Amino acid sequence: MPADRSKPNGGPSGAPSEPSRKAARNHVPFGTRIAMAHGKQSRVRKRRLDELEVVKTLGAGSAARVMLVRTTAREDSRPLEKPGALFAMKVFKKRALRRELMYWEEHAERARLSETPWHPFIAGLLDVFADEKNVYEMLEFLPCGNLRVHLQRIGGRMDGPTATFYYANIVLGLQFLHGLGIIHRDLKPDNIILGGNGYLAITDFGHAKLDSASKDDSEWQALGTPYYMAPEIVTTGMPARYRTFGVDWWASGVILYELVTGEFPFDNYDEDGPNDETVVEELFEQIRYADVPWPAEIPLGRQLQSIIERLLRKEPERRLHGDNGTLVKHPWLANVDWVRMGRQLYKAPYVPQAHRHETNWHTWRMPTEDEIPGLPITDVPVMQQFDDRFFESED
Ligand SMILES: Nc1ncnc2c1ncn2[C@@H]1O[C@H](COP(=O)(O)OP(=O)(O)OP(=O)(O)O)[C@@H](O)[C@H]1O
Ligand SMILES: [Mg+2]
Repeated sequence: MPADRSKPNGGPSGAPSEPSRKAARNHVPFGTRIAMAHGKQSRVRKRRLDELEVVKTLGAGSAARVMLVRTTAREDSRPLEKPGALFAMKVFKKRALRRELMYWEEHAERARLSETPWHPFIAGLLDVFADEKNVYEMLEFLPCGNLRVHLQRIGGRMDGPTATFYYANIVLGLQFLHGLGIIHRDLKPDNIILGGNGYLAITDFGHAKLDSASKDDSEWQALGTPYYMAPEIVTTGMPARYRTFGVDWWASGVILYELVTGEFPFDNYDEDGPNDETVVEELFEQIRYADVPWPAEIPLGRQLQSIIERLLRKEPERRLHGDNGTLVKHPWLANVDWVRMGRQLYKAPYVPQAHRHETNWHTWRMPTEDEIPGLPITDVPVMQQFDDRFFESED
C-alpha cells in the first residue's frame, strides 16, 4: 500500500521507525550527491555582465535607473542554464556615487541588502557588478510595478479589506528588516513593488541604516521623502534615541492613510509638491503639530481610523509599533492569520494576468550603449521602441 501522503511527516501514524530514520540520515540528499560524487561542477554558474541583456527600463529615481535584464544563451550552457530568466538591474553611475561621497563599499543599499537573507517580502540582491562607468545591483525581479502605480490603476484608493492585505504585507517586510536591525528610512508606495502572485516586497535600500550606527543629527535631518517623514526626523533637537524603527512605522501609517483615502494625511496642498523650501517647512509644521484629518466624503471604519491615528502619533514612544506586538494586536488587524500571510497562502486581492514582461511599453527610454558599457542591450522591434517626442526627459 502506498504511504499516506496526507499525513504530516513524523505524525503519529506516519512516524518512521528508528532504523529507517537512520537510513534517511545516511542518505545524502540526491542534489548534492550527484554533483559532488561525480566531480561535476555546479549546475549553474555566476553570470558575467555580458551574459545578460537589457530588455527595458523599469523605473528611474534620483540616484539610479532600474532595468529589466534577461539571461542570454552561451555556447557552453549547462542543463539548467536556460536563457531568458528575468532580473531587475539597478544601475548607479560611479561618478554620482563619488560626487555624493558614497563610496561603493559604504553604499547603504549594497551594504544592507548583502546582509539580508532571502525573504518573500523583500526584493533580494543576487549579485553586484561594475564596469568602467557604473555599479550594477542585480535584484530579484517583481513584475507588476510599484504600489503607487497599482494604486493609480485601481482608481486612487482601496477598500478596508484590500488595504488590510497590503498593509499586512508591509508589516511582515518591516518586521523582518527591523529584526535584522535595519531601518529602511524611505518607505513609500514607490519603494514597494508587486510580485506576480500579487504580494508586495520592499525595495530601494538607498537610505537604509543599521539601528546600531550613529544617530548623528546630520545623518537624519530631512531624510527620505517629505510626505512620509516622521516628526522625529523633521524636528531638530529631538533626542537621538527617538530616531529608530518608529520612523518606518510612521511611514507605514502615512501609506495606510494614502491607500484608503487616496490622499496624504499631511499635505500643504501645493500643486507643485513640496519642493520649495517654505512649502516644505509648512509641511513639516503639519507633521509636527497637526491632527490627522478625516475626509468627510470617505467614511472610514472606527478601527481603521484608530490604527492610523495610533501609527501617526507624534511621540515615537506612544506610536503603535510592529516590533513589539502592539500593532498586530490592533483590532483592525484581528482577522489576519499572520502565519498564513507570511507563507503567502491567501489569495491576493489583485493577481495580475500573465503577460510578457519583456515587451517594451514606451514608458522609459532605453539606456544607450555608452551609458552602460559593460551590459549588452537587446534589439527592440521598432514598434516597441520608446519615442521621446512624446515624453519629457527623465534626466
Ligand atoms: N526588483 C525590482 N523588480 C521590479 N521593479 C523594480 C525593482 N526594483 C525597482 N523597481 C522599479 O524601479 C523603480 C525605482 O526603483 P528604486 O526605488 O529602487 O530606485 P530609485 O528610486 O531610483 O532609487 P533612489 O531612491 O535610491 O534614487 C521602483 O519604483 C519600481 O517601479
Ligand atoms: Mg525609490
